Formats: sequence, structure tokens, C-alpha cells
Amino acid sequence: MPVGPNNGGQDKMRGSTTEDDITATVLARFAATPDLRLRQIMLGLIKHLHEFVKEVELTETEWFQAIEILTEAGKMCSDKRQEFILFSDTLGVSMVVDLIGHRKPEGATESTVFGPFHRLNAPEMPAGGNIAHRDTAGVPALVSGRVLDLAGKPIAGAELDVWQAQTNGLYDSQDTNPDNLHMRGKFRSDGEGRYLLRTVIPVNYPIPSDGPVGAMLKATGRHPWRPAHIHFVVTADGYDAVTTHIFDRRDPYLESDAVFAVKESLICDFTEHDAPTAAAEKLGVAGPVYTAEFDFVLKPAGAAAQANVLDAQRRLAALGARA
Ligand code: BEZ
Ligand code: FE
Repeated sequence: MPVGPNNGGQDKMRGSTTEDDITATVLARFAATPDLRLRQIMLGLIKHLHEFVKEVELTETEWFQAIEILTEAGKMCSDKRQEFILFSDTLGVSMVVDLIGHRKPEGATESTVFGPFHRLNAPEMPAGGNIAHRDTAGVPALVSGRVLDLAGKPIAGAELDVWQAQTNGLYDSQDTNPDNLHMRGKFRSDGEGRYLLRTVIPVNYPIPSDGPVGAMLKATGRHPWRPAHIHFVVTADGYDAVTTHIFDRRDPYLESDAVFAVKESLICDFTEHDAPTAAAEKLGVAGPVYTAEFDFVLKPAGAAAQANVLDAQRRLAALGARA
């Protein structure tokens, strides 16, 4: 066999592969990858994968089991379900990516996991719009605050893309009629950077556990619960987008979130009012209401334009994988 450009000059290894030299042989085969970043990723991946397999002495049966699990995960993915994001989240990988990807100046709102339940095409809503119009079981809540820059200056016209689980613990896409958008909306900050949305008090809920991720959680003695939260992606021209949640301070799962996504700065007070506040009355809320206030602080866009999570979501949608 001629020595080609792609065999890394490893022909001398022909027929002599051992447990000890296989890793070097494979690494050498990738050494000429022209794209430097891809080269770095592939070499790192191979090094760590081989180390892992050798460390745990993975058996052939276990290797087949892993193939089965990944196949099952792939088959579960649809426009309403993303089992690979769930794997990444429950293994803590999403949070490692988040933590290294969003090192930001003191004062900017911290990010957290995107999760698998965002949907494109949430309806645009006016200030005070109710994202929970079909949720009759929940207690009304008003969430308000400002979108600010690092100097505390209001950012007008920022978009807040909001989504939340229903009081039954399910996202609309998991519900009986998954095509109906519910508990989702896009809001704009006003001239003073203010936003206001109407919803219901968020609930804690278990992540989907009827697939391979659920089997993994069960086999490892973990629970699937997430603390009550509301999701936001806040975007504004000239600023880096932030993908985040606000969490209810009273939730018992804050310490043991199934996806490791809680950050202290994102924990928020939901205050109970026995009678509607003036703002609630104006929006037609009759009985008791909760209010929560949270300001989002954005940092200026970096020199290199960063693709944000919504761009990635659009690419997934183009693959036909997400709605
Ligand atoms: C969510 O909050 O929607 C979520 C995040 C990660 C995994 C599952 C659900
Ligand atoms: Fe969620």
C-alpha cells in the first residue's frame, strides 16, 4: 500500500497494532487535518476517548450497549424531543460548555442551559401579555424588570424570548396537542428598558425520563427534577445575547437540579399578594397574584460576531429536527 497523505506516515505500524500503540496510530492519522480547530478537537476527542475506554476496560458487551443507547437516543429525536441535549444536560456537559463560553465581566447576567424545549416562532406580545392564557390551574404571576447595559443604562427594544412549563409540569410540545404554542412569547423592552409579562407561578417538573436518559438517571440513583424556573433568551443589537432562567427561591430542588443549571445570581423572589397589585388589576387579574422582578444586564458584543443559541436552533430546525 503506498504511503498516502492521510495515513500520517504510520505504515511502519502495519500489522503491529497493540493496546499501547493504537492511540498514537489513530492520532497520527488525524494529524494532517487542515482546519486547525477541527484538528485540535479530533485529537483531544480521540486521546480522551481512548483513555476512558482503557481506564474502565470497556467490554465488547458494554460497547454494544453504548451503541444501542445512542441509537435509541437518535430515534427519539424529533421536532418535539431532543434526547442528545438531555444527555448533555444531565451529564453536566452543557454547563461546562456554558461556563467556559460565557466568562463575562462582573455585573452581566449569567447564562445557563438552553434545554430542549425552546421553540422558534413564539408569538410577539405587548407589555403585560399573558403567555399562560390556557393555564387555568396556575396562580397568576407578573414578571417585570429592565434590560440594562453594564453601566446601568436602559437598553430599549431588546427582545425577550420567554418559555415556561405549564402548571401540569409539561411543556406545550409534550402535551396532548403539541402543535399549539403555549407558555411562550416574545416581549420587547420599552424606552426605559422595561419589560412586563404575565404568566403563572412556575412549577418544578421532571425532565422527560421515558427514554435512555431516564434509564441512565434511574440506574445511577438520580432524580429527574428541575427547580421551578422561567426561560429567557435576551437579545439586543450591539450586545451579546444571554440564554438564561430565573429560578424561584422557594424551590426544594435548587440544590439538586437534574441538569446542574442553577446559579445563585439567577435565583429570584416570587412575592405573594393576597389581592391584585395595581399592575395586575390593570391587566385584569382578579385574585391573588405573585410578582417577581429581575433585571437583565447585557455586555457589549465582542469584536468577533458570535453566533447565538437561536442561530443554532434555526440550524437544527433546518435539519427538520426541531419545530
Ligand atoms: C428545561 O428547563 O426546559 C430543561 C433543561 C434541560 C433539560 C431538560 C429540560
Ligand atoms: Fe425548563
